[in-house]
Amino acid sequence: MNIETGIFTPPFDPVVQALGTDPVPAGPYYREDWFELEREAVFRRSWLNIGHIAELPNAGDYIVRELEILGASIIIVRGRDGTLRAFHNVCPHRGTQLVDGQGGQASRFSCRYHMWTFGLDGALISAPDFERFYADKADCGLKMVPVGDVGGLIYVNLNRGPITPLRAWIGEELCTQMDSTVVARATHYSEYVYEIGANWKLTYDNFQENYHLRFIHPKSGLAGLGKDNPFGYPVRYGFHGDHRTQTIWSNPEPQITPTQALTFGRAMQMAIEDGVDFGDNTKQYFALFPSLFLFASAIQPFSHMVYPISATRSRGVIRLYWVGADDSASKRFAREYMMATTRDIHSEDRIVIEAGQRGLSSGALSHIHFQEQEVLCRHLMHAVAAKVSAYQAEAGQ
Ligand code: FES
Repeated sequence: MNIETGIFTPPFDPVVQALGTDPVPAGPYYREDWFELEREAVFRRSWLNIGHIAELPNAGDYIVRELEILGASIIIVRGRDGTLRAFHNVCPHRGTQLVDGQGGQASRFSCRYHMWTFGLDGALISAPDFERFYADKADCGLKMVPVGDVGGLIYVNLNRGPITPLRAWIGEELCTQMDSTVVARATHYSEYVYEIGANWKLTYDNFQENYHLRFIHPKSGLAGLGKDNPFGYPVRYGFHGDHRTQTIWSNPEPQITPTQALTFGRAMQMAIEDGVDFGDNTKQYFALFPSLFLFASAIQPFSHMVYPISATRSRGVIRLYWVGADDSASKRFAREYMMATTRDIHSEDRIVIEAGQRGLSSGALSHIHFQEQEVLCRHLMHAVAAKVSAYQAEAGQ
């Protein structure tokens, strides 16, 4: 299968060898009881991408994000000291949700119920008639959530136990690579949010293999296919603990329309203006555990986070990143075109992902099969199963 380097040569690669070649159980893609285990074993214990630093450039900027799988609403705010902090969106008085909406600018947060008021650092500033409480103000601040950023992306961790620091959790090698991408320097983004009737792993796996490209994206997927590589094999796979990478192959002679040629050319010019380093990192497709993709391609840098809602429903957030505001019509058009292209490709995926869920949810299959190119899907399934096993062992289940 090797296109250029021959680095990935199953079954000799020790990581791949350890994953085996057996069929994979189908139950984890639809079973409610498995989903409940994943809630605590995977999502409670992982750093989860929740935004980008471009959303909070100034002191007082804040965003509010819902994490349905953990039943949590999180406020992330840039403090007066420039520090990013995250809090549960919950008033410590009697639990009222503190902030409505998706975000904005604030100098403080006040709870509508009895007007307890908190600073950007989460400390309780004032509370009417507080003298008649039986508590210290110092103990009544907003409940903090560990937060950090790598490569421009913001992550939170809602684990109740000890937490591995974010950079150690991702691994310094991947952190360094992600810090050097254009996404880390982005100041603007376009966003596309979708809901899908499918398990988060089934949704995510679709974007971990190129096997489907020639069938589902016969036109839009041509850049990743060619006569020398008809199944779109990556140049290289990488395994980094629970995380994965693939180095994308691109067709040196893609068949594109005149409009695409014009727009891609403008996007390439923008990338040069933005100082994009056209090295290996622009071909590196990061798959961070549990459900984040980052692909800092030169002309279409994007992140894609899949958030589970239920065993068979998920929400995806796809963002394309840009450096600087639109300062010309051609720049606006090129950015919009790139987003429209992303949406078109995704709409082709969505139909088959949901069809896959209907088939799996029927219970007809006890197992599914992964071929060589679906090794990243197999790696994710192994990582999830290992987390669930460790959690069950700790819980004595
Ligand atoms: Fe927020 Fe009472 S619940 S001030």
